[in-house]
Amino acid sequence: MKILSLETSCDETACAIVENGVKELVSVVASSKDFHESTGGIVPEIAARKQIEFIGPVLDQALLRYGLSPDTLDAIAVTTGPGLIGSLLVGVEAAKALSIAWNKPLIPVNHLVGHIYGNFVNVTEDVVFPSLVLVISGGHTDFILMRNHGDMEYLGGTLDDAAGEAFDKTARLLGLAKYLGGVQLSKLSATCTDNLASGVLPRPLIDSPNYDVSFSGLKTAVKRLIDKNIYPNNVIACEFETALIDVVVAKMRKAIKEFKPSSILLGGGVSANTALRSRIKLLSEEYGLNFHVPPLNLCTDNAVYIASAAYFINKPAELTSVVAKPSLGVMDRP
Ligand code: KG4
Ligand code: ZN
Repeated sequence: MKILSLETSCDETACAIVENGVKELVSVVASSKDFHESTGGIVPEIAARKQIEFIGPVLDQALLRYGLSPDTLDAIAVTTGPGLIGSLLVGVEAAKALSIAWNKPLIPVNHLVGHIYGNFVNVTEDVVFPSLVLVISGGHTDFILMRNHGDMEYLGGTLDDAAGEAFDKTARLLGLAKYLGGVQLSKLSATCTDNLASGVLPRPLIDSPNYDVSFSGLKTAVKRLIDKNIYPNNVIACEFETALIDVVVAKMRKAIKEFKPSSILLGGGVSANTALRSRIKLLSEEYGLNFHVPPLNLCTDNAVYIASAAYFINKPAELTSVVAKPSLGVMDRP
């Protein structure tokens, strides 16, 4: 079964074709990231306009690159949320148009669940359920117990800033980048060989009796630390990254003890973070669990995992019920 998918939830415009949920045949991603640097954040209207500009060429390229006729496709999948309303609408309406024009079923997909399916495409090792899942991105930090495809239990998540948002805002405080500085922060942190500030920043909610986390106070503590002018920036970057990962690892450890999963899955943009990947890998080894994390190109937004999620868990829907849903949570129907 070949599914063509569209993903336009934020500043990426992506189209993919995936076979049986596991084999990527083609993936095209365009990004309007560069247009948001001067404003230090996304201007939703600009992101939406860029989606309109990019969607046609991205779709054309995906079909051309694979030399595929629409006749050979079995379904169209599209991200319906969460995301920016203007951006989402472009993908949703384009997918509806394709569904009508090509007479194919249309499958709505939750973007956050999509992130998890980056672990199911192009892999050699199958995921053994139950899995402890961490979706960690610019907008979300969610701990989930996944018993099977479509059988998920929400354990907890961020009460305020998402991990990616905390990375980006801290990167801005350190003067690394005005927008999406998570990668730069992590590179700077890697240059710190001795964390002289170890334990100086708080580990918010690390011992709380549930799976909720909070990162907005951490960012404020970084601001105070910078103002004190004691540590060089790479030490502060390292201490921030370590503090955030300490909290995440503590919650994962707690969930391993409580739910005894067979595997751990990471998904979302921040799962590209080298320190996070290695700490969670170590944790998996400690408990003898299989560890899955998408390759870097499937961590950040793309359409490949949308097609995979569509194959494994979502059913075709009536065209009229496929609508953009900007504030969808990870457990909500797309
Ligand atoms: O999943 P994603 O592409 O978009 C959302 O759905 O939010 O995640 C983007 C987020 C941004 O906050 C970005 O700074 C962060 O992922 N990110 C990283 C790294 N790569 C991307 N954060 C820390 N370290 C990285 N290597
Ligand atoms: Zn995302």
